[in-house]
Amino acid sequence: MRVAVIAGNCKMNTTVSEAIQLVNEMRQGLDEIDSVDKVICPPFISLATVKELIKGSSIKLGAQNIYFEEKGAYTGEISPLMLADLCEFVIIGHSERRHYFNESGEIVNKKIQAALKVGLKPILCIGERLEENETGRTEEVVAEQLRSSLAGIDYLGGLVIAYEPVWAIGTGKAATGEWANETIGFIRRNISQKYGKRVTQDLRILYGGSVTADNTAEFINQPEIDGALVGGASLKASQFLSIVKQTSEIKQVR
Ligand code: 13P
Repeated sequence: MRVAVIAGNCKMNTTVSEAIQLVNEMRQGLDEIDSVDKVICPPFISLATVKELIKGSSIKLGAQNIYFEEKGAYTGEISPLMLADLCEFVIIGHSERRHYFNESGEIVNKKIQAALKVGLKPILCIGERLEENETGRTEEVVAEQLRSSLAGIDYLGGLVIAYEPVWAIGTGKAATGEWANETIGFIRRNISQKYGKRVTQDLRILYGGSVTADNTAEFINQPEIDGALVGGASLKASQFLSIVKQTSEIKQVR
């Protein structure tokens, strides 16, 4: 059985002191729930501070991006080695990076390879845009994103996939549980064709896009969905805690 994951993507929100406050508000509550992997992904500048704050707890840390070179003259970038020293997970290929920063499938692929090389667990984000959804191209789009992101990669390590339909991100219009379940089922079958059943059975695939404490159960109750990548609701300690708590009650694995 797969252990559920609830990851909070703070995006470009929270100053260092706000991140400290947020983590302080939810640290104890999160630590008490041990049947779910709880991952906080604050901005880069808060990683070291948050790492200290969650020391000794069961909370895990993730970054929101990575560069694929190990070190050198890449002003402003953060390398895999720097992150491996701080955290366990790294979000790669988020639609905001693909769209605002022109990250291609090739770049996403290089980042995944770089992360896996240093033992980081990538949270690979894929998902279709509204017009692709409306023209029935979802499966084609996510299959292509999987193909390009994972090209040449034989070993997935602790990779997690997040299915985040672009039209559901930050819009308050979440997908239905049924839709997310069907698409995630498709993603799992697609991965199975390349990596085999064994790998796929252990692969955790999350839903992301306007997840809140109010709609968590709709997603987590679905058999294919192993958790959630939470944006806006991760900025409110009570919401995030409730999402994690509900998930642990629905998916009791450990
Ligand atoms: P929201 O939960 O704010 O819709 O964001 C989802 C997301 O993009 C998480 O990575």
